Amino acid sequence: MAIQFYLNGELRQVASVAPTTTVLDYIRDHAGLTGTKEGCAEGDCGACSIVVADMFDGKPDYQAVNSCLLMLPQLDGKQVLTVEGVAGTEGRLDPVQAALVKSDGTQCGFCTPGFVMSLFALRHSEEDITDELIHDALAGNLCRCTGYRPIVEAARDSCSVAGGRELLEALAASDDYNSDGQDFFAPGSIEDLAGVCADHPGAHLLGGGTDLGILVSKERRPLKTVIHTARVPELREITEDEKSLTLGAAVTYSRALPSIKRLYPSFAAMIKRIGSRQIRNVGTIGGNIGNASPIGDTPPCLIALDATLILASKAGEREMSIEEFFLDYRKTDLQAGEFIKSIRIPKLSKDQDFRTYKISKRYDQDISAVIGAYRLEFANDKIADVRIAYGGMAATPKRAPACEAALTGQTWSADIAAAAAAQVGGDYAPISDHRASKEYRLKVAGNLFQRLYRDLSREDKTLEVMAI
Ligand SMILES: Cc1cc2nc3c(=O)[nH]c(=O)nc-3n(C[C@H](O)[C@H](O)[C@H](O)COP(=O)(O)OP(=O)(O)OC[C@H]3O[C@@H](n4cnc5c(N)ncnc54)[C@H](O)[C@@H]3O)c2cc1C
Ligand code: FES
Ligand code: FES
Repeated sequence: MAIQFYLNGELRQVASVAPTTTVLDYIRDHAGLTGTKEGCAEGDCGACSIVVADMFDGKPDYQAVNSCLLMLPQLDGKQVLTVEGVAGTEGRLDPVQAALVKSDGTQCGFCTPGFVMSLFALRHSEEDITDELIHDALAGNLCRCTGYRPIVEAARDSCSVAGGRELLEALAASDDYNSDGQDFFAPGSIEDLAGVCADHPGAHLLGGGTDLGILVSKERRPLKTVIHTARVPELREITEDEKSLTLGAAVTYSRALPSIKRLYPSFAAMIKRIGSRQIRNVGTIGGNIGNASPIGDTPPCLIALDATLILASKAGEREMSIEEFFLDYRKTDLQAGEFIKSIRIPKLSKDQDFRTYKISKRYDQDISAVIGAYRLEFANDKIADVRIAYGGMAATPKRAPACEAALTGQTWSADIAAAAAAQVGGDYAPISDHRASKEYRLKVAGNLFQRLYRDLSREDKTLEVMAI
């Protein structure tokens, strides 16, 4: 079967390009559109940014993504714009391009196509343009020579100009695509997903590809069989009842953020520090869990929030505590032929509070050295229940039983927070690596109790939704 998508408004049907070809390689080498650049090939620099558009909630949704990490069949049925396609009729520059010219927002120009695409997506969003939003939209784009002031100035000048671009008619997408001895399955129903997973137990499951994409982009590994989950409606669903929020495993960070922000503001503030907008527009919580990295940001939060996973296969479904899912370094309880269907997160009761803190070398676009997550329940000023989990402190994200015991039943005070901090060494024996030494990890994990104490003791708790 062929895949099809619009590239700058022109219908492309592709039948004989290897499915693990990156979108960046396709755009430059096959389509001859060399405006889009390769800088890092691992999602860090934004030089390869393009815009992918489809309908969401009945409206056109334009999202900037890193083309270096996307596999070509991920575009099936979508509309794609590169820097060559944003100008208006008769070569009129898009307002963001014109503003970059006016503000001298470009020098060598290598980064400029990526900035144009990030700003183009921002201009087509319905968000109120503030400096905070501009910084958030540009955090995934690096410029080595111009400096960011003129670029931000161009964003201020142009991003409130209404988008106005219509989407073309929707295209059908295929359930499978193969070429060069590689198979790419993109089933459109949960039954078909279970069937394909049963038939290909050794295949690579693909959510957004912000982890898996590195294997093809950087390591150039021709993966034999890939199963993409993003077309399955149940895996893209966000549902809510009185007790919990349930996120389909293929829901992207960007689409999950509004619900998470409303129910768990500190978790949302931390998610806004995962990668960049380009990463969050395709990356999923299901992928973060499936990747099972000891420094993944969401697992400690989900463990502290007492979340469960719904795992599915041809044999049916089972629900398990996320805490039990991580068995050892990068080893999970996922069985052959099984996939994560969804993540169920209990809502906080009125007596519970949740905080999470991410420690990394940079504020934006950086992987954690340590991440701490805390859910405390208070009754008559005492800590009636507590769940604490850390990432970056062991081979898996894991709870802190000794810290929890030091807090349970106690009155919340600076001394009690310090007593909990003193137990960190009993709960964890972290390793030293290029992100942090074991001594630093232990020290900072303990120090986070001071931060937690300060935040939860503030009179106006609404002030605190920042994740440091
Ligand atoms: C530049 C950059 C910055 C990043 N920053 C951060 C960061 O700050 N914090 C952080 O935690 N991570 C970060 N990441 C890692 C990555 O973005 C996240 O882990 C993301 O959540 C992965 O989601 P995905 O859908 O892209 O996963 P994919 O790459 O599609 O998959 C990841 C793994 O999960 C498996 N998987 C996917 N879906 C399922 C499923 N439904 N069931 C079972 N297994 C499944 C895949 O087989 C694969 O092994 C970063 C990555 C990049 C490239
Ligand atoms: S080439 Fe750097 S983010 Fe894609
Ligand atoms: S203008 Fe040279 S890298 Fe940005």
